[in-house]
Amino acid sequence: MLTALNSPTILAIESSCDDTGAAILSQGNILSNVVMGQQAHRLLGGVVPELASRDHQRKVTLAVEEALIRAKIHMGQLDAIAVTNGPGLLGSLLVGLAFAKGLALALDKPLIAVDHLDAHVLAHFIGPRSPQFPFLCLLVSGGHTQLVLVRKPLCHEVLGATIDDAAGEAFDKGAKCMGLPYPGGPEIDRLAKQGNPLAFSFKFPKVQGYHYSFSGLKTALLYFLQAQQREDKDFIKNNLNDLCASWQKTIGDYLMTKLEMAVRDHGIQHLGIAGGVAANSYLRQKVVELGRQQGIETYVPAMEYCVDNAAMIAQVAGYKYGQAQFAPLTIEPYTRNLPKSGVMDL
Ligand code: KG4
Ligand code: ZN
Repeated sequence: MLTALNSPTILAIESSCDDTGAAILSQGNILSNVVMGQQAHRLLGGVVPELASRDHQRKVTLAVEEALIRAKIHMGQLDAIAVTNGPGLLGSLLVGLAFAKGLALALDKPLIAVDHLDAHVLAHFIGPRSPQFPFLCLLVSGGHTQLVLVRKPLCHEVLGATIDDAAGEAFDKGAKCMGLPYPGGPEIDRLAKQGNPLAFSFKFPKVQGYHYSFSGLKTALLYFLQAQQREDKDFIKNNLNDLCASWQKTIGDYLMTKLEMAVRDHGIQHLGIAGGVAANSYLRQKVVELGRQQGIETYVPAMEYCVDNAAMIAQVAGYKYGQAQFAPLTIEPYTRNLPKSGVMDL
């Protein structure tokens, strides 16, 4: 865990995208971590922001109540209320933020604002085994792909990032091209287990430094599928498992190229992956293999702490509480990344 000066009891709320999360941190431990997903987007091919915010409104109270019940904590025991204030979907963020502000005001407790990306990166500190600073973190989610050098808590240097789509989008859009429901990442991961990863190959985009690009890769898949379907209209159906395994390998291997470069260039000894795509079984396996080959320590968070969750928000909030980093009730949400290209020291 991240060292805090004292051990507060904190309720954290996460509503940046399409999962409503609430968690309780107490004495440095996560006592509960409730995530309520949203089914509405599944067949619509992606997150519909208006539906997402309405669903957060319906679920936020339920999620918070459930988190308190599971943790056996009552409101009066809370020392602070934490909430994600960005980046994410504006409407979704507003629901969590308004709820958290209201509760902080009503209970007369401090509000702690947490950056969603910081929380993904620092999710490694939930649980018994965590990296030593400085460590390298590949942050791969539905909205972000970044290689982050984490010098100390909340002091993150972004070495590289995607210049267009995120790795999660590459999974989701690839899945959509294959007729699979949203979110496509877990579907591809599941079907790939029955497929041949060497059946099809796609060329890696050439992008300088530690940056990535996924939009050209997705277009290459789309054109490939269209061409094959002209010969065989059932091409996707007949090759679905192989397509998933090959697409997963392409994304995973491409992510690994820049990761390996950064490990080498920066003499990295501790390496982690974070974000929803870190739940991918192929990527997890590649990172562990790299660690074994290079003799470096690798950290792959439990699945529930890879995808969006409030436990990671609570974890950062515990640290911020110790530093007395509280937010005013006037704080506003932000939709895009905080400017972190280069060194960011909060
Ligand atoms: O971190 P996250 O839950 O939400 C964002 O902050 O975006 O990440 C969601 C992304 C989606 O693109 C989803 O398809 C992907 O994570 N994902 C996966 C897997 N599980 C979730 N991608 C590949 N393999 C998985 N097992
Ligand atoms: Zn996320």
